[in-house]
Amino acid sequence: MTKRILSCMQPTSHLHLGNYLGALKNWVHLQDEGAECFYGVVDLHAITQPYEAGDLLDATREIAAAYIAGGVDPEKSALFVQSAIPGHSQLMWLLATMTQMGKLERMTQFKDKAGKHKERAGLGLFSYPVLMAADILLYKTTHVPVGEDQKQHLELAREIAGTFNHRYDVEHFVVPEPYITGAGTRVMSLRDGSQKMSKSADSDMSRINLTDDADMIAKKIRKAKTDPEPLPGDLKGLEARPEALNLVTIYAALAETSGEKVLEEFGGKSFSEFKPALSDLAVAKLEPITRRMNELMSDKAEIDNILVKGAERAQAVAEPVVEDTMKIMGFWRG
Ligand code: AMP
Ligand code: TRP
Repeated sequence: MTKRILSCMQPTSHLHLGNYLGALKNWVHLQDEGAECFYGVVDLHAITQPYEAGDLLDATREIAAAYIAGGVDPEKSALFVQSAIPGHSQLMWLLATMTQMGKLERMTQFKDKAGKHKERAGLGLFSYPVLMAADILLYKTTHVPVGEDQKQHLELAREIAGTFNHRYDVEHFVVPEPYITGAGTRVMSLRDGSQKMSKSADSDMSRINLTDDADMIAKKIRKAKTDPEPLPGDLKGLEARPEALNLVTIYAALAETSGEKVLEEFGGKSFSEFKPALSDLAVAKLEPITRRMNELMSDKAEIDNILVKGAERAQAVAEPVVEDTMKIMGFWRG
């Protein structure tokens, strides 16, 4: 059976190296292996936290441009905007009726984003994982390529699929498998090896954005936090050195090799030697992506064309699934 892939990112701000290494790179691999791929820009998720209405459209196009620049081929993969496919919100409601609040309360991303005042968080933020489950189940997705931080959300999507199938005694929804592989499934901040690299961290120096130019990438790597020791010969030697481990991991992910291999080459060397090598590698890999992204962003009509075609393909799969789901649940369908 061919794999059916779906994954998405929020148009909240620029994509960073973690998004690229943890997710996008795997999306491209799966596409090139011949899987049937759906890649969404999840704008309905993006409004679960304060945002500027005037920025949403450009952010949506920018994420689409980043997908294409990173290697998603719109001829092969359906590239679509979530809000253009009504089935996402429709299915979300249906699934919300079979999701326990207790499970949503345990979601670590909700706890992080809601902060100290949980009672002030919006219902949208609370129910975010149900919308994500709807995104996935709507396409009868078999595999979901994401970074490590999405594992808990995916587990919930699997449970919701199981609950539906059990409650209505059907084999309707496919229980999706996480696809979390490669060295870069959890890229950490360049300023603090205990925090993941994220769009929302205050310091821009903590992340490498796909919009950064070569000088900026070099500067961020030069200033990345490290320790005074040279690199060890094996990964065990990095156990209590999270910042050093992160830089080695980033190198490995960019070079498509393993941390062990990187240390075979750089073991015994100091950061003053390793950082320039990492910087050259990062620039070599990211510069073409940034350049292509800028080109694409100068032709918004072309991006819109791609998104219209992608929406048609997504809709063709999504609509019958909503219909079938509603029939199973006993709704009047005219
Ligand atoms: P987000 O930035 O939350 O929209 O995430 C989009 C995708 O990038 C998801 O698949 C995440 O799991 C992945 N991702 C986000 N941050 C990281 C990170 N620091 N390391 C690896 N993957 C990440
Ligand atoms: N929650 C994901 C994130 O923050 C984005 C997302 C929404 C997603 N819907 C999805 C990822 C469906 C995979 C599949 O990164």
